[in-house]
Amino acid sequence: PANKPVLGIETSCDETGVALLRWEPSAPGNGLLSHTLYSQIKLHAEYGGVVPELASRDHVRKLLPLVREALAQAGLTPADLGGVAYTAGPGLVGALLVGASAARAMAWALGVPAIGVHHMEGHLLAPLLEENPPEPPFVALLVSGGHSMLVEVKGIGEYKILGDTLDDAAGEAFDKTAKLMGLPYPGGPALAKLAEQGKPGVFRFSRPMTDRPGLDFSFSGLKTQVLLAWQQSDQSEQTRADIARGFEEAIVDTMIIKCRRALQATGAKRLVIAGGVGANKRLRAELAAAGEKDGFQTYFPRLAFCTDNGAMIALAGAIRLAHGQHQDESVQVFPRWDL
Ligand code: KG4
Ligand code: ZN
Repeated sequence: PANKPVLGIETSCDETGVALLRWEPSAPGNGLLSHTLYSQIKLHAEYGGVVPELASRDHVRKLLPLVREALAQAGLTPADLGGVAYTAGPGLVGALLVGASAARAMAWALGVPAIGVHHMEGHLLAPLLEENPPEPPFVALLVSGGHSMLVEVKGIGEYKILGDTLDDAAGEAFDKTAKLMGLPYPGGPALAKLAEQGKPGVFRFSRPMTDRPGLDFSFSGLKTQVLLAWQQSDQSEQTRADIARGFEEAIVDTMIIKCRRALQATGAKRLVIAGGVGANKRLRAELAAAGEKDGFQTYFPRLAFCTDNGAMIALAGAIRLAHGQHQDESVQVFPRWDL
């Protein structure tokens, strides 16, 4: 069913994402037909973080209406589908099970194959949904709420992890740092926004693990540095913005140093940036500038495809289905799953 539309379903955390894609490598956006998203951010905000059980229940409520909406947008009916792809992990087990069960049930009812996709492969392939997509080989910086990874991509499905986080992921560091300075959930985007008002150079934090060789990340010490700086400060609005600026610069600098190293080590000339933190403006601007200077090309998904979405899952699933991959009828999910 290589050229039939594939339904993609993402429910690993707090966004319900659904998309339809008819995989065509030469078509703009690789054949994306429609995509819909429901974010649960408001639901979890009053608890200061994602409440897993509430997330699962909200996915149950929103998933089928979103599937209907995505089909309507693309002018399709379920009978047009050639396969169903869903996020099988990593993520929250209950949330994953909602997407997996629904996807499996639909595929079974329609008599089409279903495939469980790795959430991070989805993120990694998201830049292929844009114009001028990157050709492998490339290096991917995957920075989300749960992961900070550098991956060498020799081809689709051929991944070598070059570096990983030893403690907090980049998005987690943003979120925790925002929280300790009293910013509301979700902290990452709020902290980034505040940093725009901050003055550069007022606070300088270290660039963790850049003084020794290697491509791993460690961001939890940075959080502690910020906590101390914040506690010892006058805690004014301007100071909060200045600290946010210093923190963001430290994270962005660290990532640029590691990306340069990864490109040098692999000889790759293309860098893909994806995952929720890939939506960070400073990171995007500074990596693009580094690319101009060093002679590598940078590729970013649009902002809506940096954070979790169904389109990246539809794409990753459609490619695998087109290569004849699918799984037997099982709703197994993998809350922890290495790429
Ligand atoms: O990829 P994603 O939507 O979910 C995971 O797979 O984890 O990433 C969410 C993460 C959160 O930690 C959020 O704070 C962070 O991405 N994030 C940002 C920005 N937008 C989202 N961090 C920094 N700057 C942003 N503009
Ligand atoms: Zn994600």
